[in-house]
Amino acid sequence: MARSSLLLYYFSGSGSFRSFFFFIPTTLALTTSLFILFYISTTSNLFTHYHPPDPSFLGLNSPFGSSTFSPRTRQTVSISFHNHSKTPFQFQVPQIVHLGEGGFGSQRPLEPRFPPDGHGNYVNYNEVYHDRDIFVEDYKEMNRSFKIYVYPHRRNDPFANVLLPVGSEPGGNYASESYFKKVLMSSHFITKDPTKADLFFLPFSIARLRHDPRIGVGGIQDFIKDYILNISQKYPYWNRTGGADHFYVACHSIGRSAMDKANEVKFNAIQVVCSSTYFQPGYIAHKDACLPQIWPRQGVLPNLSSSNRKKLAFFAGKINSPVREKLLQVWRNDTEIFAHFGRLTTPYADELLGSKFCLHVKGFEVNTARIADSLYYGCVPVIIANYYDLPFADILNWKSFSINVATLDIPLLRKILKRFSFEEYLMLQRNVLKVRKHFQWHLSPVDYDAFYMVMYELWLRRSSVRLPLNAFVHPN
Ligand SMILES: *[C@@H]1O[C@H](CO)[C@@H](O)[C@H](O)[C@H]1NC(C)=O
Ligand SMILES: *[C@@H]1O[C@H](CO)[C@@H](O)[C@H](O)[C@H]1NC(C)=O
Ligand SMILES: *[C@@H]1O[C@H](CO)[C@@H](O)[C@H](O)[C@H]1NC(C)=O
Ligand SMILES: *[C@@H]1O[C@H](CO)[C@@H](O)[C@H](O)[C@H]1NC(C)=O
Ligand SMILES: *[C@@H]1O[C@H](CO)[C@@H](O)[C@H](O)[C@H]1NC(C)=O
Ligand SMILES: *[C@@H]1O[C@H](CO)[C@@H](O)[C@H](O)[C@H]1NC(C)=O
Repeated sequence: MARSSLLLYYFSGSGSFRSFFFFIPTTLALTTSLFILFYISTTSNLFTHYHPPDPSFLGLNSPFGSSTFSPRTRQTVSISFHNHSKTPFQFQVPQIVHLGEGGFGSQRPLEPRFPPDGHGNYVNYNEVYHDRDIFVEDYKEMNRSFKIYVYPHRRNDPFANVLLPVGSEPGGNYASESYFKKVLMSSHFITKDPTKADLFFLPFSIARLRHDPRIGVGGIQDFIKDYILNISQKYPYWNRTGGADHFYVACHSIGRSAMDKANEVKFNAIQVVCSSTYFQPGYIAHKDACLPQIWPRQGVLPNLSSSNRKKLAFFAGKINSPVREKLLQVWRNDTEIFAHFGRLTTPYADELLGSKFCLHVKGFEVNTARIADSLYYGCVPVIIANYYDLPFADILNWKSFSINVATLDIPLLRKILKRFSFEEYLMLQRNVLKVRKHFQWHLSPVDYDAFYMVMYELWLRRSSVRLPLNAFVHPN
């Protein structure tokens, strides 16, 4: 009210002289703005309207897998990299230019199939490593020099069952935790001399604690607190770094809240966990690392040459999250995207061998064993789990062998998957076969398998500032 009466006063009341001087500059400013707007609208595409794409570009009327590829123009960009040994070399990257982005009904354009990296550089999508040379070189150095000290315990420790590696071959959904410890303890990385250690392993098993009737889910936090207190009093190494050169390994998501009474573990130590999500304040991506969740399978790899992938995509699992509910709601009766909820009537392996894409959909947590399952059966994984810090993401170029779909884009799933031409699909699948070895556990570790990859992740995180030990030696 007050404001409008003030304006009225300006225009009606006190003399034409004053209103004249108000009017001239305002009109000038308005005219200039109009000119600028006109100029922008004729030169920029900001104002151009959304054009529905030609359906053939989306491959909608060409059945997936046929030899008719979506028309597109190809351009070649050359990028020069600098090799380790300072010899610049040229590298040809085919850049795929899409003519028909967007889609029917979606106001938001789809993300490019093969987008540039975060800095606008083109990525070589046929390379499964971010930098193979650095990885191979560092790996050798890691393998040669990396040393781990494992905190020992008394032979008659009442909790020896929790601290010792399991006797039998680990199995099941959370096997990764037990596998890692079992393989580590008999590996050449172990040192008995703590002064030679790069990292210190806290050997408690979250899976064992969870099932131990003396502790149970409710007692894990106190156990961890006591355990840290004990080692920090008995040994000088914890206090030296506040735990920064210590690590533990856990696959069950209970491991996350297990550290709630031991904040130093949460904030300083390296947490190698299956439930690695950017969304959780207790997980810090550059400090902590993802442990791949892998359902271990023995014996020879399946014969993929006989696989006949007729289905576009496949999922099986319980409905235990809004994301899975959404998937069910949209794709329940689809003839190309098969989403099974409840018991499967066909063998799981046959489904993974019979589908082009296999869906990993967030359940209670971002992680499940489905990614490793898909890779094992040569199926290209489609990851629908926002904020998942993927296994070995700082080594592997996930875009070269998997597809990431935001939860919000579940209704666009078919469209997203169909944009990949047959050639492009084969490239993704060839890369799946290349990374398969990184997602396998072996009791006697094999170079570049899951065990060595986790060791490499630890090695990348090993540096920490240490106070000299004598700072802790009391004169008396
Ligand atoms: C980097 O340079 C070395 C030595 O010149 C060479 O052996 C190696 O193949 C080069 N790496 C790449 C990726 O070209
Ligand atoms: C890593 O170390 C093991 C044990 O010394 C050895 O058998 C293996 O060949 C090494 N791998 C590489 C790539 O150096
Ligand atoms: C800590 O040390 C005390 C005293 O030796 C022992 O009774 C207790 O079991 C230890 N706790 C853990 C978690 O190791
Ligand atoms: C480490 O620090 C804690 C807490 O300040 C202390 O109780 C403990 O005695 C220290 N450990 C050693 C070995 O000095
Ligand atoms: C895999 O299956 C194909 C076709 O059935 C067969 O020709 C090939 O010999 C098999 N390969 C192996 C390693 O068994
Ligand atoms: C799927 O089929 C069932 C039973 O035929 C029907 O009740 C349901 O409405 C269908 N759902 C969708 C999303 O089409």
